[in-house]
Amino acid sequence: MTASEKPELYRDLAQQLAALIAGEPDFVANAANTAALIYQGLPNLNWAGFYFRNGEELVLGPFQGKPACVRIPVGKGVCGTAAARGTTVLVPDVHDFPGHIACDPDSRSELVVPLIEEGIVLGVLDLDSPLPARFDEIDRYGCEQLVALLLVHHRKYPRGKMSSNFDDRAWDRR
Ligand code: SME
Repeated sequence: MTASEKPELYRDLAQQLAALIAGEPDFVANAANTAALIYQGLPNLNWAGFYFRNGEELVLGPFQGKPACVRIPVGKGVCGTAAARGTTVLVPDVHDFPGHIACDPDSRSELVVPLIEEGIVLGVLDLDSPLPARFDEIDRYGCEQLVALLLVHHRKYPRGKMSSNFDDRAWDRR
C-alpha cells in the first residue's frame, strides 16, 4: 500500500465502523466489531484488540489474533505505558522498547491508542504487526479517529451494557 492510499483506507474503515455500530448500544459488541474490522481491513497485522482498565490493571477485551496476556499493570509494557500517559504510543521496533510484553514473539512493531473520556483512561486499542516499522503517523491518526468514533457513539449510550471487567466507576466519573 502506498502512503497516499492509507488515508483513503482509514476513511473507508471509519465509514464501515459507523455503519456497524449505528443504533447498537452494547459497548463490548461494538468493540468486538471494531477489532474485527481493523484486523481484517488493515494489512500486515497479527493482533488487533482492546484492553479495558479495571483499577490499576488493563484486562483483555475483544480482540482478533492469537490468545494474549490477560492482565497488564498500568505503566507496564506498551499498552500500560499508553494508559499511564494517556497518549498514543507508536513503537517501530518492540525490541527497542524496554518492558515490552511479548504476548506473541512474532510481533515486531506496535501501535497503542488510549480510550479517553473526559480525561479518564477507560482502556486501550492495541495493534501489533510482524513487520518492523509497520505503523506511521497516518496509522496513528487513522486509529485515533476510529477510537474517537467508537467513544463518541457511546456517549449516546452511557449506561450501555459494559463488559464485566470494565471499570464502571471510571465510566460513572465521566
Ligand atoms: N505487547 C503488549 C502486550 C499486549 S499484546 O501485544 C496483545 C505490550 O507490551 O503492552
